[in-house]
Amino acid sequence: MQNVDWSPDGPAVVLLDQRALPGETSWLTLRTVDEVVDAIRSLAVRGAPSLGIAGAYGAALACALDVPEQADRVASARPTAVPLALGVRRVMTRVDDGPEAVLAEAHAVAREAVVVNARATERAADLLQELHPGPLRALTLCNTGDLACGPGGSALGALLRLHERGALAEVLACETRPLLQGSRLTVWELAAAGAPHRLCVDSAGPAAIASGLVDAVLVGADRIAANGDTANKIGTYSLACAAARSGVPFLVVAPEETIDPTTPSGADIVVEERDGDEVRTLGGVLTTVAGTPVYNPAFDVTPADLITAIVTEKQAWRPA
Ligand code: MRU
Repeated sequence: MQNVDWSPDGPAVVLLDQRALPGETSWLTLRTVDEVVDAIRSLAVRGAPSLGIAGAYGAALACALDVPEQADRVASARPTAVPLALGVRRVMTRVDDGPEAVLAEAHAVAREAVVVNARATERAADLLQELHPGPLRALTLCNTGDLACGPGGSALGALLRLHERGALAEVLACETRPLLQGSRLTVWELAAAGAPHRLCVDSAGPAAIASGLVDAVLVGADRIAANGDTANKIGTYSLACAAARSGVPFLVVAPEETIDPTTPSGADIVVEERDGDEVRTLGGVLTTVAGTPVYNPAFDVTPADLITAIVTEKQAWRPA
């Protein structure tokens, strides 16, 4: 599914509003840089690779509106995911050639993502079959399918490739508090693909691994440091600890561009901290004492030595 695109009635970016899923399939038409920045910050579009595509089209919009300097605001709308700023930076290398050239580069970013996703997910599916030849019971967190990456997905995409090969027994999808990317988006994509799955609360993930219900854990990545330390959705680290304790393979599937050579280790990764209301409320309903101070990091960092392999379109890297 091409969930981020350029509007035929442009200049505008169109995207599937991920906040409304699974209840509603509604598309947003973003005609200003402010609207693009707001869509990124509020997670109407999310998932590191999709943010790269949104960043590319957002910068193309800034150029079409003759405010190219505003592309920087798109690049910095969220700090952790590498592809966002990369997508913006790449298309802005064409700024002197005019808005049409910038837009052509944005289309190239979107097209190339499909090839990258196909290669990374096939490689990850091959590796999984090598590690576990029988039907696989996998556990995943957050959402790493088409919605997060463009067509093909990453970690969830690899599991869907296994399903297409008849080699997937079950996906346990962690719900992913506080914004429920797992229960809202991953379950939606698994159901659409007819792939066997069950939903669990996040704290059941490590217990499921310890109980022998899981043959492999697969996640995506927002930023991978040069030494392999990996930032991904909050909760990833506890799954990696549990997987290591039980000898269960823990795979990260992501585009090669997520590996950031300018970030030496996990200690150098900036983790986005989000609004406390995301934790204080559920579906708009207050679930704690009003005004309770909140700790709400969007991501955590998994040390490289807990990762079995980082699978990209180019390699299966065993960082430890
Ligand atoms: O805050 P989100 O929903 O953008 O977080 C997304 C994740 O943590 C994903 O796992 C990551 O971006 C990889 S998407 C293939």
